[in-house]
Amino acid sequence: MKPEISEVNDAKEVRSFYERMPYPAPLTNLDRHLELYQNPERKRALFHLMFPTEKPRSGQQILVAGCGTSQAATIALREPDAQVTAIDISETSLSHTRNLQHKYKLENLELHQLAIANVQDLDRQFDQIICTGVLHHLSDPDLGLRSLREVLKPTGAMHLMVYALYGRTGIYMLQEYCRLLKVGTSDRDLQDLSTMLDVLPSDHPISNVLHQTKDFKHPDALADALLHPQDRAYSVPQLFEWLDRCGMSFGRWFEQATYLTQCGMVAKSPHTAHIGKLPMRSQYAAVELFRGTITKHNFIAYRDDYPNESQPIQFDEAKSSSRSRYRWRQYIPLRLPWTMSIRERLPLGAVAIAINRAHTYPDLILPIDAEQELLLNAIDGKRTLNEIIQIAAGGVNEKRSLKFFKRLWQYDQIVFDAS
Ligand SMILES: C[S@@+](CC[C@H](N)C(=O)[O-])C[C@H]1O[C@@H](n2cnc3c(N)ncnc32)[C@H](O)[C@@H]1O
Repeated sequence: MKPEISEVNDAKEVRSFYERMPYPAPLTNLDRHLELYQNPERKRALFHLMFPTEKPRSGQQILVAGCGTSQAATIALREPDAQVTAIDISETSLSHTRNLQHKYKLENLELHQLAIANVQDLDRQFDQIICTGVLHHLSDPDLGLRSLREVLKPTGAMHLMVYALYGRTGIYMLQEYCRLLKVGTSDRDLQDLSTMLDVLPSDHPISNVLHQTKDFKHPDALADALLHPQDRAYSVPQLFEWLDRCGMSFGRWFEQATYLTQCGMVAKSPHTAHIGKLPMRSQYAAVELFRGTITKHNFIAYRDDYPNESQPIQFDEAKSSSRSRYRWRQYIPLRLPWTMSIRERLPLGAVAIAINRAHTYPDLILPIDAEQELLLNAIDGKRTLNEIIQIAAGGVNEKRSLKFFKRLWQYDQIVFDAS
């Protein structure tokens, strides 16, 4: 543990906020995580979300930048054969992480009180950088992202989450309201704020956040959302401009169905075909405007000099280069561990509904018919698409099967091990 604080001056106000109001609410018990991580498929699926065409790397260097109270400990628990380095400017957040480190004997975790702008002081390069809910709090997010890029290996990947602009309109209105009334972070102020939310008009622009976020009225969450001294948000076009400026390239959305014209209600709009002809970035921008309530952008990004094609998943044989012509046949589909099938309130013809519990939009459910269920059940983490299609060949047409797997992928039900 490096004791001195190395930080640029403008991080001081944010640091003092997180010293007083660490977020997320600290955890003292990771037993539930431990249980989940017994399943090695979880780690494998997460790896291939970032690196679809690679074999899992052993001994990875992982940086958790702005680790907060528990994120770094959970990652160290999940990735016992990786070396996890975590930095944060708040000693309070680090001390909660340190308690978890001792309790779970996480010898693969190293903690530093360090600002992102000074991350080069670590003198290390990383395979993965995880920085969620942090860069939008920096006075200079460009400097923050460029600093992280400097310590990312050219073959590495970043998992980033930053606030989304339009869906946070209500939050910015209430931040302004709190500034007008000089609402502070005392218990009494937070209690009053929580009560105030109960009497807000039900169609206030913040209502989407109140519905989407389970713990929003918890004092820590409330302070982080409404009383934060510094935050900004990005529309989709602003996000891409930011990545371009900082030498990064977009890989994929963590939950891509939210942004795809092929998924959910957007697919039923009379404009769907038109949107589908736009460049990908404009399609995502259009879907963000269509949905109107996206509050976070959670995504994977690479250095712009990443040596290979980072996310080459491709189902369209006509569009594939001759080298990759039949490559999809060799993909091994992996079910994302936080997905599930339910059998209630089924639409006509469906035998199940596939859902991804990380989706916040109810229109992103995927009804499955009997033929499709055969294919879904044949996913075992070992069989390739080709093998699955052969197994089911008795009753299932190849073209229809492939279309279904593409849909499962678009709806965040599966990722592919294309290594
Ligand atoms: C909202 S919390 C997110 C924590 C964690 N990433 C997660 O997703 O659970 C933001 C964290 O970033 C830290 N932070 C803010 N500015 C920072 C900076 N410039 N350098 C390093 N950490 C910073 C804060 O102290 C806080 O712990």
